[in-house]
Amino acid sequence: EQAEKDGFDHYMLKEIYEQPRALQSTMTGRIDEAGEHILLSDLKLTPEDVRGIDKIYIVACGTAYHAGLIGKHVIESLAHIPVEIDVASEFRYRRPLFKGKTLTIVVSQSGETADTLAALREAKRHGSAVLAITNVVGSSIAREADHLLTTNAGPEIAVASTKAYTSQLVAFYLLGLYLAEGRETVSSQERAALIADLRKLPEQVEAILAHAEEIHAFARSIQDEGHLFFIGRGLDYAVALEGSLKLKEISYIHSEAYAAGELKHGTLALIEEGTRVIALSTQEQLHEKMVSNITEVKARGAVVLGIALEDNVELHRSVDEVCLIPSTHSLLTPILSVIPLQLIAYYTSVALGNDVDRPRNLAKSVTVE
Ligand code: G6P
Repeated sequence: EQAEKDGFDHYMLKEIYEQPRALQSTMTGRIDEAGEHILLSDLKLTPEDVRGIDKIYIVACGTAYHAGLIGKHVIESLAHIPVEIDVASEFRYRRPLFKGKTLTIVVSQSGETADTLAALREAKRHGSAVLAITNVVGSSIAREADHLLTTNAGPEIAVASTKAYTSQLVAFYLLGLYLAEGRETVSSQERAALIADLRKLPEQVEAILAHAEEIHAFARSIQDEGHLFFIGRGLDYAVALEGSLKLKEISYIHSEAYAAGELKHGTLALIEEGTRVIALSTQEQLHEKMVSNITEVKARGAVVLGIALEDNVELHRSVDEVCLIPSTHSLLTPILSVIPLQLIAYYTSVALGNDVDRPRNLAKSVTVE
């Protein structure tokens, strides 16, 4: 087992460090040489199918659901198709409406999650086409879906998902761009610019990992906390949910992710002297709003770690500590901003002496309801 960990103490850390390669593999063969077009010949969608989609459902569980939250945002903004998203255990029992041409996208690392598989079957029963984003080619979900978009992240062993999540995000970017091209909702210049930034992500993730030590220090400061908060807006809120889940899964510290604008509708009451808050701010159009939310929590005594773009000087001034990520297209920031959150969860879990790769009560793949 030690040999399989490649010298890392845990599978989770190994998998965190494998992300540059996993992202690269998920892109390989799916972008033309000139960097202008997305090639998803593995999907069996005709140009008419692409143009005819009226609505998309995204259905998944856990971390894959969090990837879907980003996917919704990406598809809506690039391909202009309305997207509804659900956790699979809700979707399968809530009688969703299938009107017009619906594409259901199921996301599952293992391809075996019982609720996600049941949701897939439910969608098919209603005549919806199903596209699966999965990491396991021969899985039940891969076999039963009409269209298959694999994440080529390699086997993921640690229960807490890392490289599968970021690879699922790459799959959504490729899909969003592909649908946008077919529906002519994005100009060729915009598409090329986004593709260029997409290609830079593996080395940008590498650059963040090279500074993992700084994040280690922050993790030390939260290990004795009873609870903490993650806040963000837009895509940053979706990443906050994933950061909070990661921390809960393996450190057993309670945390809550909150849409920063909702704080004053309840959660602000829980902020007191010394409460740790992790604030994500990577969306330029929301910077100002985030600065004012950070000021709100700081005024009540919170200690704030900001996750921000390297050129966001104003945010640096408003927080107690900052973790910088390289600049990229605003839709792509989740792949970068989640890396420090994965590391915070990992280091905290190690410091608390927990079983990082096999957290209590959890399974890698939930094949029963
Ligand atoms: C389990 C795992 C999670 C995972 C979820 C969905 O709960 O512990 O890490 O996100 O299942 O798994 P899937 O294989 O469908 O992505």
